[in-house]
Amino acid sequence: MPRLDVRIKTSLRAKAIYATRQGQREESVTIRELSLNGALLDPMRGRPAETLTLITELSPSREIELRGDIVRLNGSQSAAVQFYYPDRDTSWSLWHYICAKLKNDPHCPYCGEARAGDTSHCWHCGQYLEFSDAAYLDAHLRETLAARVQNRLPKLQPEHCRKIIKYIDGELLRVRDKSPDQEFVGTCPAMLKVFSMIHKVAATDLSVLILGESGTGKELTARAIHERSARKDKPFVPFNCAAIPEGLLEAELFGYQRGSFTGATETKKGKFELADGGTIFLDEIGDLSLHLQAKLLRFLEDRIVERIGAKKGRKVDVRILAATNCNIHERMETGSFRDDLFFRLNTFCIKLPPLRERGEDKVVLARFIFHKISEAGDFHLQGFSEEALTAIRRHDWPGNVRELINKIRRAMVMATEEFIQPADLELEPLASEVAPTNLRRQVSMSKKEIVLAALQENNYVIARTARALGISRPSLYSMMKKFKIEH
Ligand SMILES: Nc1ncnc2c1ncn2[C@@H]1O[C@H](COP(=O)(O)OP(=O)(O)O)[C@@H](O)[C@H]1O
Ligand SMILES: [Mg+2]
Repeated sequence: MPRLDVRIKTSLRAKAIYATRQGQREESVTIRELSLNGALLDPMRGRPAETLTLITELSPSREIELRGDIVRLNGSQSAAVQFYYPDRDTSWSLWHYICAKLKNDPHCPYCGEARAGDTSHCWHCGQYLEFSDAAYLDAHLRETLAARVQNRLPKLQPEHCRKIIKYIDGELLRVRDKSPDQEFVGTCPAMLKVFSMIHKVAATDLSVLILGESGTGKELTARAIHERSARKDKPFVPFNCAAIPEGLLEAELFGYQRGSFTGATETKKGKFELADGGTIFLDEIGDLSLHLQAKLLRFLEDRIVERIGAKKGRKVDVRILAATNCNIHERMETGSFRDDLFFRLNTFCIKLPPLRERGEDKVVLARFIFHKISEAGDFHLQGFSEEALTAIRRHDWPGNVRELINKIRRAMVMATEEFIQPADLELEPLASEVAPTNLRRQVSMSKKEIVLAALQENNYVIARTARALGISRPSLYSMMKKFKIEH
């Protein structure tokens, strides 16, 4: 394999300064070999892995400073130093110096074979030899680094590669890895229907009412709609109507003029104005007071925001997405939510199913969350044990996806084995054999048979059997008495 950095022989005087525990030490050295990446110094009394600064004059008044680590001591006389990446000016100065020496060299600096005439590439190793080309330095650096990465590739695990690509995309190329479909996980028919509704409604400017229990992804749905809409480059302003005391809500939503009430020391824009051109997401809309419902309704009709204390309103262009986890129909029946506001908001309605009704999505989501958390931290876990997956399938998930995230986060901290166990998730372990995976078989069994089978599977340990059947110990005892089961 040809050498990757172009190295020349030289005899440049330099000052080597290196930091030791005792303070700085300086010595005079000669650079015997030099490349963009390192040098061979003579003499050198440093130690491997020590950091040093080299100051040298490439030509009169062209002084450069290079920093690097000692990587190898060649006997006691000379030392190899690897440079950190120098800034562009330093690289250029160094490269000019190297180029000037290369011009007269009849050998290819990469492979050492004789150069044939003035061809642009080495006939032997194929490397580009137009050193005076202005684009050469960049091309050279890129190829050198690419070759270094290539050399390391066989040693990398797929997991490492994934992290590297994520880093490159996120930090270096700033590629947005946040398409709503990638972050929004769902494979069951009900969720596929939700995705299709998001796609359809995003293209319109309709108000959308998003219903679903807490933690089912209402805010995620609102963001997905916004990000797929023509307003995606404008603000998305989430606002939780239940999180702010009633007295401050109006000022927060509609803004206020300076001096309009005690404490209004300056004029402030409300959320509607901040969302101008974009989307506002009104979460927990069911908790809005009747007074504010009336104000919101007026706004929906004329799209004019009146700051508290202002003489005149201002027209704003905002798309409204609203969500609630309460039973809004019940609220309308009791008169605490206005029908006319509901009909205004409900031009399009998306209902998110609770997690317990999403079938195998529970496991798909659990794996997705596990990978997301793994990527963000230094975990050495392989995944979920079969028992943990069974427990995840069986749990009711009253807190939906939010609860799943919290339980997995906790489990990843608590786990002591390679695979997460039900107890790490604070879920009950289940005797999987008794699990009613085969519904028909279970239905055909009488209650007595089910209880008997469960007792046998659990060696007649009452506590375990009761847990496996999902009933209390007293209930199990009374069933055993009823079915005349001895133990
Ligand atoms: N289908 C899903 N795929 C991935 N993450 C989800 C999904 N549903 C919810 N989440 C995540 O669960 C958490 C709760 O979701 P959120 O939208 O705030 O729920 P809600 O507004 O209904 O209470 C958030 O961290 C969200 O990113
Ligand atoms: Mg929410």
